[in-house]
Amino acid sequence: MSDQVPVPHGLPTDRDAGPFAPPSAITRLRDARPVSPMLFPDGHEGWIVTGYDEVRSLMADNRFSSRQDLGILHVPHEVPGMPEITEPSPQVPGMFIAMDPPDHTRLRRKLTGAFTVRRMKLLEEHITEIVERQLDRLARLTPPVDLVKEFALPVPSLVICELLGVPYADRESFQVNTARFMDRELPFGEKMAAYGAMSAFLAELVTGKRAEPGDDILSDLARDEDLGIDELTGIAFLLLLAGHETTANMLGIGTFALLEHPEQLAELRADPGLLPGAVEELMRYLSVVDVLYRYATEDLELGGETIPGGSTVLVSLLAANRDPRRFADPDALDIHREARGQLSFGHGVHACLGQMLARIEMRAGFAGLLRRFPDLRLAVPAGEVQLRTNMQIYGVHGLPVTWTATA
Ligand code: HEM
Repeated sequence: MSDQVPVPHGLPTDRDAGPFAPPSAITRLRDARPVSPMLFPDGHEGWIVTGYDEVRSLMADNRFSSRQDLGILHVPHEVPGMPEITEPSPQVPGMFIAMDPPDHTRLRRKLTGAFTVRRMKLLEEHITEIVERQLDRLARLTPPVDLVKEFALPVPSLVICELLGVPYADRESFQVNTARFMDRELPFGEKMAAYGAMSAFLAELVTGKRAEPGDDILSDLARDEDLGIDELTGIAFLLLLAGHETTANMLGIGTFALLEHPEQLAELRADPGLLPGAVEELMRYLSVVDVLYRYATEDLELGGETIPGGSTVLVSLLAANRDPRRFADPDALDIHREARGQLSFGHGVHACLGQMLARIEMRAGFAGLLRRFPDLRLAVPAGEVQLRTNMQIYGVHGLPVTWTATA
């Protein structure tokens, strides 16, 4: 392996190669050294993994821990007001995305029944209704409108609120607080305040459900006396956040990407049967959850390198999904491509619990949008679309669109 590419200092986030492409520094790194040391802003020598095969093997190996309480999590960006961390952060009860087996297994198992393929298929019709209702509202507006605000964010928020039994009327507060929590550049104190507000809101909600359960996923969990209120709160936080932020960003930047590829868009309009494959390819191409974190619990060999125990390891799903050793012509969006094996829903024990739900929402969302708005187009030059380079989940902050009103 060549050492010619310098060790990165901090995670490169500048989308210098275009809104849909990885930062060029990440691409160079993958091509030269797919498992590479990286210097964190606090001086810690950690690692970044960018090659497809290497990312896949890492994610299948639980010795690369998801626990942030095991070691100090070194933050790959400068966060204003961040105190110097000398102690590992405590484990958040219920937050099983940041746990290892067997703790992870115990909690995830309580939810697998609610997210089976069969359960999700039963929901498909209802999700389509939610999409159509939102499209009716959109059609009544006078363009130009922000597609994120009026469509991409409401659809997954409505769906996850209904599934979990969170009042949609409270969306303002949880959408604002999750956005603040996921903002890489927000001062640390403000991030924690947003986290505290979300937790307080959800603790009250699950306490109510324990006393008086209804017909929703959080109520089903609240009936299980094995789970404490703090665990229920953490699970609710995880599901609510993961359930709307990710899919909303895929719908937003996915529409942007399609509008920027008019031939593929036209093909998709002509043959909606292409949608499932197109969604998989958009997932690969856009990789909105671009980076994950792991912690090496011991010295570990990966891709011919030795990662010392105690290292924080960044996993670039975005770089892996653009690896030419796995996908031919990886930087082209090609809705006919066999994109199965794309890593955007993760891999291994933490593979996305909501992936079937997300797929159904995206298929229904893109299908409805393309059918109802045959001449949908950007209302600003593409270069003016605000990219979420400051956020932990990538996408667009807003997508100004217009169309020719028919009525
Ligand atoms: C396009 C949309 C989505 C994307 C790109 C996405 C991506 C991911 C990724 C990459 C992971 C793995 C994290 C890791 O290994 O550290 C994950 C985990 C997870 N996702 Fe999603 N997700 C999406 C939608 C959803 C939805 C709709 C839900 C609904 C509940 C959801 C719930 C979860 C949960 C609970 C986990 C943690 C699983 C575990 O730790 O066992 N996700 N997701």
